Amino acid sequence: MSGASNLKGLILSGGKGTRLRPITYTSAKQLVPVANTPVLFFGIRSMVEAGISEIGIIIAPETGGEIREAVGDGSQFGAQVTFIEQDSPAGLAHAVLTAEPFLGSDPFVMYLGDNLLQGGIKGLVDRFSADSPDALILLTEVDDPQSFGIVELEDGKVARLVEKPKEPKSNLALVGVYLFTAQIHDAARAIEPSPRGELEITDAIQHLVNTGQTVLSEVVEGWWKDTGKLADMLEANRLVLDTLHGSNRGTLIDSEVEGRVVVAEGAVLERAVVRGPAVIGEGARIVDAYIGPYTAIGEGCVVDHAELENSILLDGSSISHMDSRVEGSLIGRGAKVERGPKMPSAIRLLIGDSSHVRLP
Ligand code: DAU
Repeated sequence: MSGASNLKGLILSGGKGTRLRPITYTSAKQLVPVANTPVLFFGIRSMVEAGISEIGIIIAPETGGEIREAVGDGSQFGAQVTFIEQDSPAGLAHAVLTAEPFLGSDPFVMYLGDNLLQGGIKGLVDRFSADSPDALILLTEVDDPQSFGIVELEDGKVARLVEKPKEPKSNLALVGVYLFTAQIHDAARAIEPSPRGELEITDAIQHLVNTGQTVLSEVVEGWWKDTGKLADMLEANRLVLDTLHGSNRGTLIDSEVEGRVVVAEGAVLERAVVRGPAVIGEGARIVDAYIGPYTAIGEGCVVDHAELENSILLDGSSISHMDSRVEGSLIGRGAKVERGPKMPSAIRLLIGDSSHVRLP
């Protein structure tokens, strides 16, 4: 094998997204933006950077439409994208089997569409090409090993892999980026569904180990985030905003911008203070407001008489006339947060299923 020439990419963007409800009732978790860019786009870009241009994207019937629309044919990234519909979220190994007609007998990189890997995948692709294992997996130490696939090493070699163990024997988690040869298809066919009813990629890799195939591992350098939950999403937003270069294409009226701030085209800041790192999306209006560090404001949002920090506002949402600073929040598309007239001092809510509101 030379370089990434016959290596394909497979990005998993199906699944359920239960942990980011209510945002994911109406849209795919892989499209929730980090620093105003859908999480999924980071995975696509890192594949292209590693020389992979033939990319299959697994989609679910419910959220596939908007993923197709956002990604298009892949040309915006310099890739050719094929969408592969998985009829039910029956597990990561099931997704691989669903993609078999696309993958054929080619080796491939599998990337979980809600994962973010700072260092990209170029180094991994190079090692896979140089060492030619059957699988190359990526590991990182975590504080909560019950929430991940966990790997036990013996003499530095992958010995056992367990999906979300109740009593973890190691804190080395499987990061959502894997490199495989076509051997993985037979392994995925050989395993049974797990107690949670899914065909686990973790079990398929264990099958490779059990049948004497070469499974190599590498520990992640730099940071990695699975953005499946709110706290992780906010942290990913902070990490990506930290790499930002400031630029201003909007209009500033009596406003102050400090530190690294991206103000997109058509955005208007009026009597506002923005302290970076922060990003203000196209056409947003920030009026009589303070935007603090680690905040990403989507397209067409309005922040009026309010203070905001360490938060993500999705497109078209608005926050106005708040008495206290809003922080650590994820506000859904088109959602409105506002304070009504002072009297009578009652709270009035129209809140979607599984929403979470915390008032001072
Ligand atoms: O984030 C790393 C972890 O990802 C690993 O440590 C685990 O071993 C691995 O099983 C996986 O665990 P999660 O429970 O976090 O996986 P999740 O259900 O969130 O799915 C990961 C991505 O794959 C997500 O973008 C949705 C997509 N997916 C998921 C399933 C179950 C599919 O496309 N099809 C599916 O059937």
